[in-house]
Amino acid sequence: MSDPKKQYPEAYAICEKFIISKQNMQEIVTRLTKEINMGLTRDTHPRATVKCFVTYVQELPTGKERGNYLALDLGGTNFRVLLVNLINDKEIDITGKTYAISRELQEGSGSKLFDFIASCLAEFCKEHKLERLNTPLGFTFSFPCKQVGIDSGTLVAWTKGFKAEGVINKNVVELLRDAVKRRGDLKVNVVAILNDTTGTLMSCAFNHRNCKIGMIVGTGSNACYVEKTVNCETFDEYRNSTKPNMIINCEWGAFGDNGVLDFIRTSYDHQVDKNSINPKKQIFEKCISGMYMGELVRLVIVELMDKQLIFKGQSSQKILVKGNFDTSFITEIESDQPGSHRNAAMVMDRLGIRTNNEKDLDCLRLICETISTRSAKLAACGLVCLINKMNVKDLTIGIDGSVYRYHPNYHTLLTESMNMLLAGSVKFELALSEDGSGRGAALIAAVCAK
Ligand code: BGC
Repeated sequence: MSDPKKQYPEAYAICEKFIISKQNMQEIVTRLTKEINMGLTRDTHPRATVKCFVTYVQELPTGKERGNYLALDLGGTNFRVLLVNLINDKEIDITGKTYAISRELQEGSGSKLFDFIASCLAEFCKEHKLERLNTPLGFTFSFPCKQVGIDSGTLVAWTKGFKAEGVINKNVVELLRDAVKRRGDLKVNVVAILNDTTGTLMSCAFNHRNCKIGMIVGTGSNACYVEKTVNCETFDEYRNSTKPNMIINCEWGAFGDNGVLDFIRTSYDHQVDKNSINPKKQIFEKCISGMYMGELVRLVIVELMDKQLIFKGQSSQKILVKGNFDTSFITEIESDQPGSHRNAAMVMDRLGIRTNNEKDLDCLRLICETISTRSAKLAACGLVCLINKMNVKDLTIGIDGSVYRYHPNYHTLLTESMNMLLAGSVKFELALSEDGSGRGAALIAAVCAK
């Protein structure tokens, strides 16, 4: 590979702005710890940015859960209906159907969105002859929700490009039940609402008994962890609960919304934020997750192209359009074997730029690596914060999301950063959690139905 530092000093200088030193990483851990404590504490919770919602999930799976459950998974561009059969302590069978959530549905009226969800559920249940069985259902709804019970969650804010009207401040379980009732052709028993991180933790805990954190790095980013119930002050029974633990949904995507991450943000981060549908919100998420990584890369490339510093003599309309550099392109480019530029050239071709200039493509790769490395470092800070908070010395972390799943080095980058911060003091395993939104929802529904 050519040396971009020499060949592309301007590009290199931009990339340097995204580098987070060890000292800054430690500072981020300290700041996040403070925000999490504010979220957990009754007095400070109302003004906390990292809300740390109690999930009402107080038990991890035992492996004894059995039976058929329905799961709904809403949290990104796809919506899924799943039938999950918990067969024994090792086997879980899942059948499901995926439906696209159009932009109209994401941004239109809330009742239309919930009517659509109910219609998909009805279609699926009819196909599987479940429409009258009142099957217990777990609703994975991956947006910040304030819960007052296992089957009650009020949407606090939309994230990840959603803005359907009339849903914020409503109990989404009621919206779902109402939509099912309006149809009149279906009987299901909605027993739980959960976040995808909670599902991920539960699903991972089914196979790894010492799983204590669930993390998502996909379209959005967030994590949940096992807290001592006595520390969960926003839970009414925190002092006298018979159950010692509670899963906390951190909603860490909002970390930084009060400015505490400004010391590491770049002008590109500010631009991404300004052009988003939720400016000044989800600041940590905007530095980490798949909805924004590609856009950060695009902004850097466009600046370099404007200055005639890369892809000289070439221009394209496509690359100028916001959102056109998909985060999956980063994954593809970084999947090129050393010395090969096959994927990189293909990606640029799709964006209207035909080139075999290896130096340019090396530079492009450097920009991609910069953005993914920073994402992984920040996610590592989050995980280390939770590990220190729990004060455990040995644990498994269940992870899911398209970035973690498909990026060729993300797992390694995360591991390296965590090792640097933890300096051997903790034994941890990062495990890909299989289908948390489906398996996790079923496991929680099983615990509730018990
Ligand atoms: C949402 C979280 C969710 C995460 C990952 C964020 O935008 O606020 O609730 O867990 O995305 O899907």
